[in-house]
Amino acid sequence: MPTTSRTVTNPVEPLFLDRWSPRAFDASVMPQADLDTLFDAARWAPSAFNYQPWRFLYAHRDGADWDRFLDLLVPANQNWARHASVLIFILSDTQMASPGSEALRPSHSHSFDAGAAWMALALQATRLGYQAHGMTGVDFDRARTALAVPDRFRIEAAVAVGRQGDKSILPEALQARETPSERNPIDRHAFAGNFVS
Ligand SMILES: Cc1cc2nc3c(=O)[nH]c(=O)nc-3n(C[C@H](O)[C@H](O)[C@H](O)COP(=O)(O)O)c2cc1C
Repeated sequence: MPTTSRTVTNPVEPLFLDRWSPRAFDASVMPQADLDTLFDAARWAPSAFNYQPWRFLYAHRDGADWDRFLDLLVPANQNWARHASVLIFILSDTQMASPGSEALRPSHSHSFDAGAAWMALALQATRLGYQAHGMTGVDFDRARTALAVPDRFRIEAAVAVGRQGDKSILPEALQARETPSERNPIDRHAFAGNFVS
């Protein structure tokens, strides 16, 4: 059974409902073994030609890189993400080589593939008692320079991972939003046949 109050009309695997994006984290330190398990889960995501274009740059809250990673988020995200255990920047390789070839060509699906990897990481986090909160509220230009990301790689998003904490640590406006959200009905997204607007 899912532990959230999210409503579903079909027998969805409970893990999908239990994953959500809290902002109140408990500021605990995450063991490297747990973080490695998240990256291992991400590794098993499918990708075009099994090219695995995702890359992860990370900092633990008690590590030397924490402050400069946190500083790359927009201030509104810094405000709550500073309580997380780990910050991760997710990159994708915009170039790929066909199997058996060294020649690089633009990848059609680098972001799609990295998105699959992020979801695997997030679900594994939930399964281990953490939550992973994605963010595009990032200073992407500064992040590219600060993290020495080559032009060839797209910085997709940042992720804050941690154990859920008490929402009283958040400003009042965020406390009110600290609950799993709902979704549009299936018929807004899935159409038999042609596109429907
Ligand atoms: C790519 C991406 C970017 C996001 N950017 C932010 C962000 O900058 N700040 C924030 O507080 N939440 C951010 N979120 C969290 C979303 O608002 C959240 O996933 C969405 O409202 C659905 O809620 P749920 O994850 O709790 O199911 C982001 C999520 C994703 C996947």
